[in-house]
Amino acid sequence: MIDIHCHILPGVDDGARDLVQSLEMAEAAQKEGITTIVATPHHQNGSYNNEKGAIEQDVDFLNKQLASAGIDVKIAAGQEVRLYGELLEDYHQNKLLTVNHSTHMLVEFPSSSIPGFAEQLLFDMQLNGITPIIVHPERNAAIAENPDRLYKLIKNGALSQVTAASVNGLFGKKAKTLSSQLIESNLTHFIATDAHNTTSRSFGLAQAYNEIHPDYAAYFQENAEAIFSGRYIEKEPPQHVARRRKFLGIF
Ligand SMILES: [Fe+2]
Repeated sequence: MIDIHCHILPGVDDGARDLVQSLEMAEAAQKEGITTIVATPHHQNGSYNNEKGAIEQDVDFLNKQLASAGIDVKIAAGQEVRLYGELLEDYHQNKLLTVNHSTHMLVEFPSSSIPGFAEQLLFDMQLNGITPIIVHPERNAAIAENPDRLYKLIKNGALSQVTAASVNGLFGKKAKTLSSQLIESNLTHFIATDAHNTTSRSFGLAQAYNEIHPDYAAYFQENAEAIFSGRYIEKEPPQHVARRRKFLGIF
């Protein structure tokens, strides 16, 4: 299995604190069958900035450490980029990373909202040859309130990635239910772990694939392999998430 979203690099963000923790995470990943991890440090999220060159060096370092520790997991370079005004400018100045140097980039919204400029920027990214993958839409308050906000962005060519822990119920019932709805409405295209450690925010990717219909599990795994290898993915037309009807207007 390939995990396209993980905070495994040592000491760069709120993921692994040091090399010991990075190695622990890699071991935990290996145990559940993950062979390849895209390291995606936070960038421009208000707390952390991690630019391309530094990430690539850290990836090389961690791969060497894993090899000498005998842990059979490969790390590839990526980045979790908070949407920001100068994103395209910085991309052209070689500061940003896609998933394993593909044409797909992980992009993050603030947890409570979708910025007003998001629709235009996600579109402009595509005009510049980058397909944005919106990370954990099921944890965004504006999308939870109105999943049509996500529908519009997906309809316009963006992809999305739900988090394994959401599918597994670790972020609560609402995130789990919304994850299922997004999956069944063709509004999401990947499951990834967004693992930060081996305790409170661990992997659970195999478990998540077991939680969902095997056809979706196979589709998501194929998609992760495809973009990792620089290929495009097969997409089903997005559907609107059915609004829950109020029962006699009471609930
Ligand atoms: Fe993340």
